[in-house]
Amino acid sequence: MKTNVKKDSKLLGIGILGCGLISQAAHLPGAAKAHNIRLRAVCDASDELREKMTAIYSPEKSYSSYEDMLADPEVEAVVIGIGDQFHVPCAWQAVEAGKHVLIEKPMGVSTQECEELKALADEKGLFIQVGHMKRLDPGLQYAKAFKDEKMGAVTTYKGWYCDSIGRYTLTDNVMPVIYSSDAAKKPAGNPKAVLDRYYLLGHGSHLFDTAMYFMGPVRRVSARYVHEEGLHSWLIDCDFESGAIGTLDLTVAIAQQWHEGCEIYGTGGTVFAKTYNPWEFRSSEVSCFDKETELSTTPAAFDGQFYRRELEAFADTILNGTPCAGATADDGIMIMRALIATYRSVHEDGAWIDIADAEGEL
Ligand SMILES: NC(=O)c1ccc[n+]([C@@H]2O[C@H](COP(=O)([O-])OP(=O)(O)OC[C@H]3O[C@@H](n4cnc5c(N)ncnc54)[C@H](O)[C@@H]3O)[C@@H](O)[C@H]2O)c1
Repeated sequence: MKTNVKKDSKLLGIGILGCGLISQAAHLPGAAKAHNIRLRAVCDASDELREKMTAIYSPEKSYSSYEDMLADPEVEAVVIGIGDQFHVPCAWQAVEAGKHVLIEKPMGVSTQECEELKALADEKGLFIQVGHMKRLDPGLQYAKAFKDEKMGAVTTYKGWYCDSIGRYTLTDNVMPVIYSSDAAKKPAGNPKAVLDRYYLLGHGSHLFDTAMYFMGPVRRVSARYVHEEGLHSWLIDCDFESGAIGTLDLTVAIAQQWHEGCEIYGTGGTVFAKTYNPWEFRSSEVSCFDKETELSTTPAAFDGQFYRRELEAFADTILNGTPCAGATADDGIMIMRALIATYRSVHEDGAWIDIADAEGEL
């Protein structure tokens, strides 16, 4: 049987580690449609999940053992879609085996492990990308180019990422049916036991990623946090290395629709961006006002399949040397530091914490 999507002459052979939610909803369909990817293999410790995904997506090989998948010479790169605590140890094994790696976000759970992994990959000449797929949102990409080319001196960034109490009603409607298994391999303990850490890792990583995508590295943060019942809210002031100032709002979960976006002010223009729940596969709606022309532009940005675009960008870097359009290991490490600095600031009564000093584990 043929499909209409594998257009490129060079395809990257990937192995997907993990057949859980993110692979079922994002990486497997993304790999099936990506124009420059060949789904060489899948791997999961759960037989039922692996067999189900093998039946649906027909990878060339299906492995219950990660070590066996890594020994497959036709797996050129590994996509790591497993629990946060497993990211770096499994990425480490992949790099040791000579594979490029796309790691789901957050890159890891400690600065040290992320930095050591990057050093190993650099030493071996292998590429690491982190799964911050919002960088592949064509609405945000348009706004980023506008900011870099037209906005002059950029002084101010406001970003918000507010999860919704209606999130699962929406995702249950738009995601494929998600299969789970008691045999799935999970990190020890309950990652949700300490909710502030869990939300910072899971959601705060997206908030900081978008801020740094537009503005470059954060220099320091000062954060406050409050929670009542199911409402957890952080307000984070930040200074960027560029000299710009920013304020970030992370709230899980508001009694409203999903609410995410940013505003950016420059001497030559302004960006307003509204971002949708990613599972709607809808590009951000951006309005870019240019002071010179006094016109706002809003791109149609039709292709909102960020997860497929992320895989295509990953393959493009490996196959063709195209500069990374996603998040690099350095971006992943900076985000880890920003999350740790935020956590520390909250516990030090809103003290300013320099990102350079933010080390340790979250
Ligand atoms: N980018 C996004 O928008 C987004 C959205 C959701 C989740 N995520 C990230 O995706 C990651 C995975 O989340 P999930 O909900 O899919 O996890 P999950 O626990 O549902 O699935 C992970 C699967 O990997 C398998 N696995 C783990 N280690 C293994 C090993 N060593 N060998 C073989 N199989 C192994 C497990 O059996 C399990 O089936 C998390 O880091 C999460 O933060 C990202």
